[in-house]
Amino acid sequence: MSKEINTIGVLTSGGDAPGMNAAIRGVVREALSKGKKVKGIRRGYSGLLSEEIEDMISTSVSDIIQKGGTILQTARCMEFTTEEGQALGAEMCRKHGIDAVVVIGGDGSFRGAQKLAEHGINTVGVPGTIDLDIACTDYTIGFDTAVNTAMEAIDKIRDTSSSHERCSIIEVMGRGAGYIALWCGIANGAEDILLPEKYDYDEQKLVNHIIENRKKGKAHHIIINAEGIGHSTSMAKRIEAATGVETRATILGHMQRGGSPTCKDRVYATTMGCLAVDLLCEGKSNRVVAYKGGQFTDFDIDEALSMQKKISDYEFDITFHLAR
Ligand code: ADP
Ligand code: F6P
Repeated sequence: MSKEINTIGVLTSGGDAPGMNAAIRGVVREALSKGKKVKGIRRGYSGLLSEEIEDMISTSVSDIIQKGGTILQTARCMEFTTEEGQALGAEMCRKHGIDAVVVIGGDGSFRGAQKLAEHGINTVGVPGTIDLDIACTDYTIGFDTAVNTAMEAIDKIRDTSSSHERCSIIEVMGRGAGYIALWCGIANGAEDILLPEKYDYDEQKLVNHIIENRKKGKAHHIIINAEGIGHSTSMAKRIEAATGVETRATILGHMQRGGSPTCKDRVYATTMGCLAVDLLCEGKSNRVVAYKGGQFTDFDIDEALSMQKKISDYEFDITFHLAR
C-alpha cells in the first residue's frame, strides 16, 4: 500500500491521557524535520468524518509538552465503527491529502486505525491510555502520571483515615483493568486491593481482615477498589455495619486523567510520537508503537490486538504478604 508519504495526519481518540500532548508534539516536530506536512484532526475519528482538520506547524505545538489533556481534543465515534463510517474516513483523508495517520489512543482506537489501513490509508498507533491495558506494550501514555496522581491523593486520605481510626475504600479508575489499583495498592501500602481480574466478591474476607487488623492495633484500613468492581459507597455501608469500624468511600474519578504529565510520560510519549513518524517514513503501515523488554519497538496492529495481557500473579500475591 505504501507510496511516498507527504502529509501525515494526527489524532487522539478514546479517553484522554496525560502525555498525549507530548506525543502530538513529537509527531509534528519529527514529521516537519523530515520535510513532511502535518494536519491535526480534532476530536478523534469524529473530527475526521466532519472534516475538523487543520494544518500544523512547529509553533502549533509550542508550550504544550507540560500540559495534561490533548490539544486536539478527543471523542468516541460510533459512526466510525461502521463500514460506511470507515470508508468515509478514508475518503476524507484522500480529500485532505492525508497519506498517513498517527492514531494516539487505546485498543479501540487501534481497531479504527486497522480499518483505515484496510481502506488504503497508512496508519501507526501510539498507545495512549491511563489504564496500561494494551497487551503489546509495557508502557502506555498517561499511566505513570495517573498512578502518581492517585498515589498522592490516597496518601492524603490515609492521613485522615488514621486520625479517625477509620476504614477507607478508595475507588480508582480501571473499568476492565486493575493496573492502577494494583500499583496504588502497592505504593500506598493498602491493606486490601480489589482488581476486576481477580476479585471473588467475598466481602466476608474483607470484614475478617479489618477485624484482625483492629486486634493488632492498626489505626486505619485502606482498601483500593478498581472502578470495574465499583459500588464503593454501598460496600462501605455494608463493611461498617459488619465490622463496627467507621468506613468512608472516596471515588477519585476523572482527576486521575488530568494534570501535568510526569517526566517519564513526557519522554516516552515524545519518543513514541517520533517513532510513529519514522515508521511511516520508512514505508511501514498498520503498525503500533510499543515499549517492550526495555526497548521501544513496533508490532503489526493485527498481532498487537490479538495479544493478551495479564496482571502479574507475583505482584498480586505479594500484596497479601505485605498487608498482613
Ligand atoms: P480506546 O481507544 O481508549 O480503547 P474506545 O474503545 O472508546 O477507546 O475507542 C475509541 C474510538 O475508536 C471509538 O469511539 C471508535 O470511534 C473507534 N473504534 C473502536 N472500536 C472500533 C472498531 N472495532 N472499528 C472501528 N473503530 C473503532
Ligand atoms: O481512559 C480509561 C478510562 O479512564 C477507564 O479507566 C474508565 O473506565 C474510562 O476511561 C472512563 O471514561 P469516560 O468517563 O470518559 O467514559
